[in-house]
Amino acid sequence: ANAQESDFEFPRAYQGIYKSRRFDCAMALYSSVGIEHGDRAGSAAQTMKNFELFGAPHVAIITTDEALGTYGAVDCGLYVNSFLLAAQSLGVATIPQAALAGSSKFIHEHFGIDDTRKVVCAISFGYPDTDHPVNGFRTERETVDNVVQWMSN
Ligand SMILES: Cc1cc2nc3c(=O)[nH]c(=O)nc-3n(C[C@H](O)[C@H](O)[C@H](O)COP(=O)(O)O)c2cc1C
Repeated sequence: ANAQESDFEFPRAYQGIYKSRRFDCAMALYSSVGIEHGDRAGSAAQTMKNFELFGAPHVAIITTDEALGTYGAVDCGLYVNSFLLAAQSLGVATIPQAALAGSSKFIHEHFGIDDTRKVVCAISFGYPDTDHPVNGFRTERETVDNVVQWMSN
């Protein structure tokens, strides 16, 4: 996938805690499927699974009206979160995927989406294979004090 092909700019950089959280998440994911740190071929193969929807039978393509700009993407973020929680409540597993937005030209052509819509991301979904080791990995959660700056006067 080429980030240049995305309808919205991909992050310019992952810095500080964003870099370390991304690294920790990737390490947890890779180690769940037995890929060791520095195994370039293994991690590339895992990345390529994005384009097989990780074996999921369905995918939703999340798009916004191009005139809405950044705020259209913010609105889609709310929609994505609601989709993930609603699916989870019904026993349906989801994988939000920015990777597919990185091939937006293909997505537009394949699904017949015209240029008035911008591709934000995709959500692959289906009933989970609970025996698959990848479904055993979970990310950590920050404490409230680490994400809220409390103010008082
Ligand atoms: C907007 C968004 C885009 C994501 N894109 C991808 C992706 O392209 N490929 C992938 O393997 N995981 C992707 N993820 C999943 C994360 O890498 C991570 O596995 C997942 O969010 C971890 O669960 P958590 O959100 O409960 O921490 C994405 C997650 C979000 C919220």
